[in-house]
Amino acid sequence: MKDILKNIGDIGLIPVVVIEDSMLAVPAAKALIDGGLNIMEITMRTEEGIKSIEKVRKAFPDMLVGSGTVLSIEKAGECVDAGAEFVVSPGFDPELVRWCQEKDVVVIPGAVTPTEVRQALKFNINILKFFPGGIFGGVKGCEALYGPYRMVKFIPTGGVGLKNLVDFADKPYIHSIGGSWLCPCSDINNKNFDKITAIVKESINILLGFELAHIGINAENEEESLSFAKTFSGIFGFNLKEGNSSNFSGEGIEVNKHKGAGAMGHIAIRTNSIPRAAYYLRQKGYGIDWNTRKGTEEKPVAVYLDNEIGGFAVHLLQK
Ligand code: 3PG
Repeated sequence: MKDILKNIGDIGLIPVVVIEDSMLAVPAAKALIDGGLNIMEITMRTEEGIKSIEKVRKAFPDMLVGSGTVLSIEKAGECVDAGAEFVVSPGFDPELVRWCQEKDVVVIPGAVTPTEVRQALKFNINILKFFPGGIFGGVKGCEALYGPYRMVKFIPTGGVGLKNLVDFADKPYIHSIGGSWLCPCSDINNKNFDKITAIVKESINILLGFELAHIGINAENEEESLSFAKTFSGIFGFNLKEGNSSNFSGEGIEVNKHKGAGAMGHIAIRTNSIPRAAYYLRQKGYGIDWNTRKGTEEKPVAVYLDNEIGGFAVHLLQK
């Protein structure tokens, strides 16, 4: 159960999908997978929802498939029988939550007020849908609830899209971000599957927010490190910042005081979330050497990839 919720957090995006013709469920799922998303929340807003869950589960057994807009215990039962691995409901329904917990089914109920959050906590639920997010204050609404309820994380949906995704991407209280923009019903119906794939790719890029942080030079010793850093600062006027294990010239050039990682040195890439970046890099076949982690397991602040690229060690840096 924990793994599914963790997986949802690492993936960081949940396409909330309305399918009007279950024949289009598998190509829609494939479009998401082609873009890099291995998750789909199929809503119960149409008659075709249940059949769609069945078809996608069969076609892509590795895809994480959940059911959305689940408004009754009966419907939850149908979803689980069809293969849904998690159940999402827009509001907080104690009976539905109890039923899911008794059946060991992952449930993500909605909550947008302190009273609802409190109720969820009584059921030991700390990952909550925040819907309709846009109406209830968006990221500011989530942040306000996180003030007193530090043990809760939200999955905002409703009003999230390419334009405001970035606002949610680096927040510690946002578990994942959901919405229909990732797989619009109209694009499914018009078979615009390439468009869906392109939206997904763009969204993942925004979610991860990779950017070059600095390059790292390996000096032989303290003296050489300071001399190199001073040279850069002397030429380009970058601010010199002396540190314990390295010196910086500006933000972009680090000079280690010893032979650090990487035959040629290292390159640091900033990201909105190291755990999510690690997940997506793994999908692309690049591993992380967690022994190099700085920060805690919960909140890593830096970690190296397990392979060099072009003689450079590469590390991620939490924004
Ligand atoms: C949901 O059920 O989560 C929302 O309807 C998705 O909202 P959106 O269409 O604004 O993304």
